[in-house]
Amino acid sequence: SWTMANYAKTAVDAIKKTVGGGKVVLALSGGVDSSVAAALISKAVGSQLTCIFVDHGLLRKNEGDEVEGAFKNSGMNFIRVDAADRFLNKLSGVSEPERKRKIIGEEFIRVFEDEGRKIGSVDFLAQGTIYPDVIESGAGDAAVIKSHHNVGGLPAVVDFKGLIEPLRNLFKDEVRELGAELNLPDYLVWRQPFPGPGLAIRIMGEITREKLAILRDADAIFREEVANAGLQRSINQYFAVLTSNRTVGVMGDFRTYDYTLALRGVTTTDFMTADWARIPYDVLDKISSRIVNEVDHINRIVYDITSKPPATIEWE
Ligand code: XMP
Repeated sequence: SWTMANYAKTAVDAIKKTVGGGKVVLALSGGVDSSVAAALISKAVGSQLTCIFVDHGLLRKNEGDEVEGAFKNSGMNFIRVDAADRFLNKLSGVSEPERKRKIIGEEFIRVFEDEGRKIGSVDFLAQGTIYPDVIESGAGDAAVIKSHHNVGGLPAVVDFKGLIEPLRNLFKDEVRELGAELNLPDYLVWRQPFPGPGLAIRIMGEITREKLAILRDADAIFREEVANAGLQRSINQYFAVLTSNRTVGVMGDFRTYDYTLALRGVTTTDFMTADWARIPYDVLDKISSRIVNEVDHINRIVYDITSKPPATIEWE
């Protein structure tokens, strides 16, 4: 009978056969797909796999440390590359969304190549491509470093022989099931999707370190309160957006002129269409008062009540 345990076993055997004695590198984002791919390939070829986690400095609060914590002592070869300076320098002064995506995608490939070169004679590139990615990128077309698709091209790693994509036939819910089968922690298996370009597309306009810090703190409060309300699995994706809009406010005896923060939460099955999440007013109220009280430079909060279409889930 078809079970996830059988699927895992068949996949492990197939990976062993393909890889032989070769070396494999995988770009690990800490998202569900790349984490499950890493666990599966590691089970098949152990230390022949090296996972490279490129921290582009555009992750959510504590996220880089959480990913490192989950993999560092797992027995896998795990490399965290702190590349924030590289990315932020390239993004300096850039405000157009597609330009941001292109810069981040290209720089991602360059950083990945630099690390691949250090490993030397890499035979295979592994990716957590899942079935919906295959459909989206066109039949038969490999989703290249999927979260940054269509930018930057394939990383030119030495002696590159082919792609390993063990999740190509699976839907998201099956990937989560497989992750549980491989004993990955719940917080990785149930992670909400996070875009490859990260917070760069959640800060409207130019990205600065100051804006990143503001957004990280506000977003962390939002996520904490959604979890406190027990809503983290019923809202499929939720996050804060730092607009470039400033408005007048009042704080004690003083007039302020600070940023407007937008909160976005959606319910969806496939992320192609989505409805705005009906977060209870009292939960929104708690989130709003905590953010304006605890995060400097935000004096107004709005909740996005548009569905997709006509809006997208992200703001950029
Ligand atoms: P939109 O905003 O297009 O988002 O409704 C649909 C889903 O895709 C994610 N998303 C991205 N993921 N790179 C990614 O890896 C991107 O450039 C990107 N843009 C959007 C978004 O978070 C949502 O889950």
